[in-house]
Amino acid sequence: MADTYIDGQWGVGDGAGFESVDPATGESVWQGHEATAAQVDKAVSVARQAFGAWRLTSFDHRAEILTRYAEQLVARKEDIASAISSDMGKPIWEARTEAGAMAGKIGHSINAYQERTGHKAGDGFSLSHRPHGVMAVFGPFNFPGHLPNGHIVPSLLAGNTVVFKPSELTPQVAAIMVECLEVAGLPAGVLNLVHGGRETGGALLNAAIDGLLFTGSAKTGTAFHKHFGGRPEVILALEMGGNNPLIIREPASVEAAADIAFMSAFITSGQRCSCTRRLILPTGSFGDQIVEALVARIAKVTIGHGEDEVFMGPVVSAQSAEAAIKFETELIAAGGKPITELDRFDNAFLRPGLIDVTDAQTPDEELFGPLLQVIRADSLDAAFARANDTRFGLAGGLVCDSPAIWEAAQANMVAGILNWNKPTTGAASSLPFGGPGLSGNHRPSAYYAADYCAWPVASQTSPTAISPAMIGMT
Ligand code: NAD
Ligand code: SIN
Repeated sequence: MADTYIDGQWGVGDGAGFESVDPATGESVWQGHEATAAQVDKAVSVARQAFGAWRLTSFDHRAEILTRYAEQLVARKEDIASAISSDMGKPIWEARTEAGAMAGKIGHSINAYQERTGHKAGDGFSLSHRPHGVMAVFGPFNFPGHLPNGHIVPSLLAGNTVVFKPSELTPQVAAIMVECLEVAGLPAGVLNLVHGGRETGGALLNAAIDGLLFTGSAKTGTAFHKHFGGRPEVILALEMGGNNPLIIREPASVEAAADIAFMSAFITSGQRCSCTRRLILPTGSFGDQIVEALVARIAKVTIGHGEDEVFMGPVVSAQSAEAAIKFETELIAAGGKPITELDRFDNAFLRPGLIDVTDAQTPDEELFGPLLQVIRADSLDAAFARANDTRFGLAGGLVCDSPAIWEAAQANMVAGILNWNKPTTGAASSLPFGGPGLSGNHRPSAYYAADYCAWPVASQTSPTAISPAMIGMT
């Protein structure tokens, strides 16, 4: 089966074979080969060659190709959804929303390019932007189409060329993306695809790239940041994880607040970077009612295979399910009191868990699964202090009907995505996406992706040569 795509040609990786296993069924759904370092180098050198012509095409030409790409993504929506769902277990309805977001990204990226990095000229000045060169795009498993697409589309629009390495857990959708770009008329060499895990990724890091656009864990992103230490000429955009807090305060509808918390913590089986990990509730009966409402929702939540009409699928792998249980065990050893324990069944399925960690010494880590930590705080200041007690800063939220408390939350909570009476998940492509601390390197994506895909050229101009007023000669 062809897996690599280099210089407009489909080929087979020369490295080790690997497969993708549907975590819902245990079936092997894709088999392919890793690209070797030699193939990665070839992909980068082809992308470098293609950059020469691609960067000189007009923005309108590039936007036309990408608009046709969006049409192809719409036409292939079911294929995309099925590839995503069978690779990582996401229910098919949710995989369809991911496919829809991929097509929607093109219009947002065209607007963002024009608004943030287009060409501007005025009396005596002009401002234009240039592409960096060859961008390496590393994808995560949880949004295997939408998130790499969120780096690829703005990169190509700005005139960069790309070498794309998807997550080895979710390889399938990448080929469909390439096919859509081929039909849309993208010239050979402008986008190249290599598959594989750490070895292939390591080869791409060591190749002659001009930019690394990464979405993944803080552990990997931090290692990549170190790898490029002392190389300021390589642009890094690191989109990493969070240990996201959601504060619920009175007055708020118990049912609506519990729905928001439930959705925030357990959508995609807790495998979104924006998922709430820490729920901060007031002490007393209002907080107790929210806990009870969450327990009731966990007992009733529908969990199943991708094709079923269910809220949640499995987590991405058996190892991931094991890691979640291990994390829960560590929280219990650290003084956490389980309210509803994670329930593992059929290999990679987890019924969500809820654990009170108010008095526990918990690690400040992102557990990428359906386990929600509850913290009780008796004052608003204490709630803010607990919310900010993290090295991450991706997402946060407040559920409360008081505008004054929302104003206080805006002043006090540290998070790049800060929502009021809405889930912490469900980011808008029309807004920036990223946050401080270990969540990234201050290069937010989505609407601001345009910023890291091009560099500015600021010019002061005059149509004729004029002597400066003061040249310091007698
Ligand atoms: P990951 O860090 O394990 O892997 C991401 C990519 O890096 C994959 O392509 C993987 O193959 C590659 N990689 C990992 N280790 C490598 C190594 N040592 N050398 C070379 N390549 C390597 O992340 P994941 O588990 O796929 O994704 C989940 C993580 O992504 C979570 O932490 C989540 O919070 C984060 N995430 C962040 C955002 C965001 O926009 N901030 C969005 C989605 C997911
Ligand atoms: C993610 O990128 O992991 C989450 C996006 C969202 O907020 O839905």
